[in-house]
Formats: sequence, C-alpha cells, structure tokens
Amino acid sequence: MSEEKVSSLPKSIDLSHHLSNLAKSRNVSPLKDLQKYIQRPGLIQMAGGLPDPTLFPIETLHIDALVSNSFAKKNAKSSSFFGWIWSMFGGAPAPKTETYTVNKFAATPEEIDMAHALQYSSAGGTTQLQAFFREFTQKVYTPAYADWITLAHCGNTDGTTRCFATFCNPGDSVVVEEWTYPSALSTARPMGIKMVPVKVDGQGMAAVDLERVLSTWDENVQGRRPRVMYTVPIGQNPTGATMGTERKLAIYDICVRYGTLFLFINFSLSTFSSSEKSDMLIIEDDPYYFLQEGTYVPKSLRAKMQSQNEDDPMVFLNSLTPSYLKFDYQGRVIRLDSFSKIIAPGSRMGWFTCNPLFAERLERHGETNTQAPCGFSQSIIVQLITKQWGMKKFIRWLQGLQGEYTSRRDFMVDTLYELFDVAPATGEAAAFGAGLPVMTAYLKEPTNTITSISEKYKAVASKTPLFSFIPPTAGMFVWIKFHVGQNVILKPGETLTMHIFTDLAEEGLLIAPGTMFNVDESIILEREVAFRISFSSGTHTGYKVLITNDSKSKCPRVSRF
Ligand SMILES: Cc1ncc(COP(=O)(O)O)c(C=O)c1O
Repeated sequence: MSEEKVSSLPKSIDLSHHLSNLAKSRNVSPLKDLQKYIQRPGLIQMAGGLPDPTLFPIETLHIDALVSNSFAKKNAKSSSFFGWIWSMFGGAPAPKTETYTVNKFAATPEEIDMAHALQYSSAGGTTQLQAFFREFTQKVYTPAYADWITLAHCGNTDGTTRCFATFCNPGDSVVVEEWTYPSALSTARPMGIKMVPVKVDGQGMAAVDLERVLSTWDENVQGRRPRVMYTVPIGQNPTGATMGTERKLAIYDICVRYGTLFLFINFSLSTFSSSEKSDMLIIEDDPYYFLQEGTYVPKSLRAKMQSQNEDDPMVFLNSLTPSYLKFDYQGRVIRLDSFSKIIAPGSRMGWFTCNPLFAERLERHGETNTQAPCGFSQSIIVQLITKQWGMKKFIRWLQGLQGEYTSRRDFMVDTLYELFDVAPATGEAAAFGAGLPVMTAYLKEPTNTITSISEKYKAVASKTPLFSFIPPTAGMFVWIKFHVGQNVILKPGETLTMHIFTDLAEEGLLIAPGTMFNVDESIILEREVAFRISFSSGTHTGYKVLITNDSKSKCPRVSRF
C-alpha cells in the first residue's frame, strides 16, 4: 500500500480503558529515558553503565545459512530430469549454504553493527529490526488503520505474558477457544485470570458461541465481563483449525459491538450491571501463519494438480488467509508474530503489531522484563533476512516452509487414508466442519470387493466408527476424536484418554492427550476422547502405525507395521 493510501486510513480509537492497573502504573524506566540521546553523534556518554564494546569478546560471526530456495514450493514438480531421477532413488539434493559475516563494528551505516545489538538498547529492537518489522507487516498484513506500531518481543510466549499483564487485572476473564495452547493457560491462571471457553468448530472459535457467552454473561455471578480474547486463528494449537475471512469479520464485529451495545443496553437491561465499556480486544497469537497448507487433496488427485511456478511473492502472500489486522479499523487487535516456526524457536524473537498506546505500555513492560531480544539473535536474523536474502528471498524461504509442511501434512493424512476406510461424516458431525470435510475412519474393508468410492462409503456406513478428524489446512497438527472404547474397564482414577494414551505410548507412539488443552477446569472427566497428533518433525516414514479396534476391550490399540 502506498504512503498516501495508508495516511487515508482511519486512526486507532481510544482504547485506554483496557489498560490494567499494573500497565497504568508503569513509569518509563529512568535509565531508558537516556536512550533517546545515546545515538546522537558526538555525544560524550558518561551517564549509563554501558560496558565498553571493545571489551566484548566476539569480534565476528561467520554464519552458514541455507539458501532461500532450499525447499520446493507447494505442489512444485521438479523440472530437472536429474532431480527427478535422484528423487526416484529416494535422494534429496544436498542443502546449499551461503556464508556471511557480522562484524562487531560496522564499517558503513548500512551494515549490521553487532556492538549496537549487543549493547543495552531499545526494548523495541535495533533500528534495522524495527524497519524490517514495519515493512514486512505493511506488505503482508496491510493493517486497516494508519497509526499501527511494531515492537520486538522475545517470542509469542513473552508477547502473550505481556499482553495479559497489560490488559487484565486479577479476577478478569479472557475468552478463548475451548481447547487451547497450554502455555497460555499456564501464564494466565497464576495471574488470577479466568479463561472462559468458547466452542470451536472446523474454523476455530465459533462466532455464535462467542455471542452466547457474552450475551448471557451475568456480572453478579460470573464477575467482570470479559474484555479480552486470546485466539490462535491459523492452524490452531491443538485443533489445527483455521479461521476464514467471514468468521474473522463476524468475531471482530462482536468485539466492537459489545462496546456500543453496552452503552445502549446499560439503561434498559439489568444483565449489564457494569458501568464500564465492555468492548473486546483481540490477542491474535499467530505463529503458524505461513504454514498455510491449504485444502488436503487425496493422493490420487494430487498428481493432476497444477504445479506452482509463480515467482511473484505477492501471489503467495495474497493466497494466505488474512490476519485480523486486515479488518482492524479501530486498533483493537494485538497481533503476535514469532520467528519460532519460520527461523527457529531458540531465536526467541518476534514482534507485536498494535496501536501506539498499547505499544508504548508493552514496551515499558519489556524494559523491566526481558529488556530487548538477545543481541546475537537480532544480529544474525537481521543480517540473514534483510541483507543476505532481502524481502523477496525471505518470502521465497517462507514458501519453501509452506511446501515442506504441506508435504508432511499430506503424508500424515495419506497414511490415515491408507490404513483405514475413511469416509465423510454426515449430519451433525459433518456440520461441525463449518465448510471443511469431517472425515470418519473405520477399520479397513477388504478392498477386492470395492470398486468405487461411493460403494466404499456405503460399505463402511454400517460399521462402528473408530475416530474422526478434519484434514488440517494449516499448522502442524491433526486433531483426532475417538468414538470407541466406551466400554473399557478403567483403573480407579484413570480416564479413558489416559488409558488410550498409555496403551499407545507403551506400543511406541506418543501423541498428546486432548485433556492437556482443555480450558474448562470444571470438567474433570473428559468430554471427548481427543488427541493432538503432530506431523511437523520426524521422518516421513517413521510413524506408520496401525490403530486398530481391539474387539475384546473395544479400545483402540496400536500395531506396528
Ligand atoms: C499457539 C502458540 N503460541 C505460542 C507458541 C510459542 O511461541 P514462541 O516460541 O514464539 O514463544 C506456540 C508454540 O508451540 C504456540 O503453538
């Protein structure tokens, strides 16, 4: 978007009523107040206790990094004859690397100055890192208001913690997908924050259920109305669900409406007893954004798909489901981006995008907490992304990751299709998909009598379903709900989920029990026997195991191939 177009966008609205008591009471760290003078040329600096960079032991970093096109794009077919022959024999081309260096002292202003990144500096990140965040966010997410700010954090875990501290007081409630990332729960609960589950379907958080939760909220019984949402909208952890544009718009609308609805309704309905605004903020924790694999296409049809040879990065970016930022015309979204899934988790780096007031408060928190992301990380990543690769090649790298995770997702779902009879669910079970196919798996029929897909579906319809799943369209996870095992005799205190988990683990298959992600603490026993299966790492051939229905115990068991 051109500068002119950006400046014609509305400015963020005043959302200062969302700041927690802690956030309101933070002062600028007196030391950081000196920071704005530090870069001034000719300054005689005798104020800060900054160590002398000539005494930093690391003079130069020599880094070997993979080239940006190391991994094929999604659906790409090898055009080279030798590449094809090589892959026929199971080989993969040796990864190519490029070497680059980062010096302690930059010779020109364009170079990365490691001494600057290693020194005490701005919690927002180095100047070059901040410039990258700004350019990338504008290009990729195109926020719908003009005065958004980007700010470094130390990964989305740090980002989430800072958000909860900045927008919630102890005793507040945060709405969240009914199964969610356990670390967010472990962060919120000790802070006295209540996590309120909203039902999910194939597209993640259900707008209808969010409306129900908010419209039936009774402050006399449930405490202060929720004003913050925490959501993982793409490749949700653990359900793998991805929220489309329409759903995001519906949820955003509800978050806005509860501010104005309140003003109207406060005088007419007793259910709204609070005298505060009750509009909602959205914390968009989105580490899987670039791992959007798209709709699963069964193996037999994949060969016929068009290969992706498009070089224009904008074609790739425009093919991705947009962030909430694209619809956020008021500045009520705090977006969290992370390098964990696109560079490496150990880089401990990412960034916020939010309105200026929130950015300032989040930065103040950073100053007294992590200070700034690690200087080595900043130096290496900024050099790699902005100097070695540049924006176009960085986006090509992201396309390679999309391609890799797509083939892993395909392999995982192909395996389920191969090992079981898989047929689309019908009725209510199908409605759960919200536009995505819910697949049910049954024990395999002998294939010699089956000639067509419709015959196969008919043949399995009378059988007991083993489990169901939605082939994920993004992220790293398949969410599997078991339908068997209701008659299993459990040991005292044992849940069915733990029974199955232990059984599978003993056989050598470790998958994550759904109960780990359960938000509703009042449910002690499981509602559903569900598991999260990750397809992100491990070899493509390592996990062919057969889950069978043990007819005696009616419980799934695992047999190795
Ligand atoms: C939803 C979600 N948020 C945050 C994280 C952690 O991100 P980071 O490494 O950036 O702290 C994960 C990691 O698995 C995740 O799944």
